[in-house]
Amino acid sequence: MHGRDLPWRTTRDPYHVLVSELMLQQTQVSRVVPKYAAFLVTFPTLHDVARARPSRVADAWSGLGYYARARNLHALATVVTDRGRDATSVLPSDAGALRALPGVGAYTAGAVSSFAYERRAELVDTNVARVLNRVFAPELDRKSGRGQKRLWSIARALLPRTGAATWTHNQALMELGALVCTARVARCGECPVRGVCATYAALRTAKGVRRVVR
Ligand code: ADE
Repeated sequence: MHGRDLPWRTTRDPYHVLVSELMLQQTQVSRVVPKYAAFLVTFPTLHDVARARPSRVADAWSGLGYYARARNLHALATVVTDRGRDATSVLPSDAGALRALPGVGAYTAGAVSSFAYERRAELVDTNVARVLNRVFAPELDRKSGRGQKRLWSIARALLPRTGAATWTHNQALMELGALVCTARVARCGECPVRGVCATYAALRTAKGVRRVVR
């Protein structure tokens, strides 16, 4: 097991997972780790977020940038908890239902469904898109609408049979993109899936080429 020991990987609390995924959208892991812990001390539950003034949520978000994420989180908490009236309400587990909430895109919906509820949900962010692109469909333009659609469908087809295995599978895909199959360089020598990778096969036939920069 080579996965990093990250705080949001030991929880299954949907609100905690949501906060981590929103923070990780535009901010690097090392900067998120302390902010994530501090934010959850200030706002232990979604209900606490709903009852706070939006400006207090923005304050707790300070240093992370992209304050739309904090505003959306407050709006989401308001919707889910019936304007702070219902302290028992929880986030939905279904990716489609999550997607309907303020600020929740397809990636975040898949992440909460899979990482908090261990549902069999696929997820594709920039890192996962690059890995799937290189391994299965190097000819595909992953930034095009058609490319994105195809990558989501590949991600769906790859899911293991159970939700618990899907949790591990999705975290591993993210880890592969963050640590091994990175944007700048593909560390194919360390890659556990190079045996099935179309880009690696092409590189081996083009002798001398070591790096993938696409
Ligand atoms: N970036 C987005 N989600 C992540 C996760 N669960 N672990 C590590 N990096 C991430």
